[in-house]
Amino acid sequence: MRKLILAVSFLTSAALFAPSQVSAQTSLDVIAAFTNQRGSTLYIENVDQNGHISGYFVNRAAGFQCQGTPYPVVGWVLAHAISFTVQWENQTQNCNSITAWAGYVSTDGNTITTNWALAVSGSTTILQGQDTFTRTAQRQAPSLVPPGTRP
Ligand code: BTN
Repeated sequence: MRKLILAVSFLTSAALFAPSQVSAQTSLDVIAAFTNQRGSTLYIENVDQNGHISGYFVNRAAGFQCQGTPYPVVGWVLAHAISFTVQWENQTQNCNSITAWAGYVSTDGNTITTNWALAVSGSTTILQGQDTFTRTAQRQAPSLVPPGTRP
């Protein structure tokens, strides 16, 4: 029950403060999109009752590979704590690498502040950095909000 409340808290706090617009640049079924300072976008498609996040990530960061196409994202949100990860392999390109982000969602649900680590298969070097994501799109999906918790 506690996990359900936390997951719903994340979705509803985001819905309360976000403009109702959907990115015209993607055909993805977007519930929420957050773009970071490198121009990359995290598309959150679903947050389930256990706080499990699923969606896509489009990398547009200069100096990195695997740009411009969607890669699956999985992660967790626990109240304002959040983590998500991408394996950089899709039908377009395979970068043989994985990135994990961990951080927190702002009180208004519009900003995700993270540290990340990028591990490349076959390398012992772990690249690290910081990304701050700002909400860029929002669309409510009533079917994802459990009955009794709708505004
Ligand atoms: C690779 O080059 O091996 C795959 C792409 C990695 C992109 C990284 S993930 C952390 C940082 N933040 C971004 O938005 N993109 C880069």
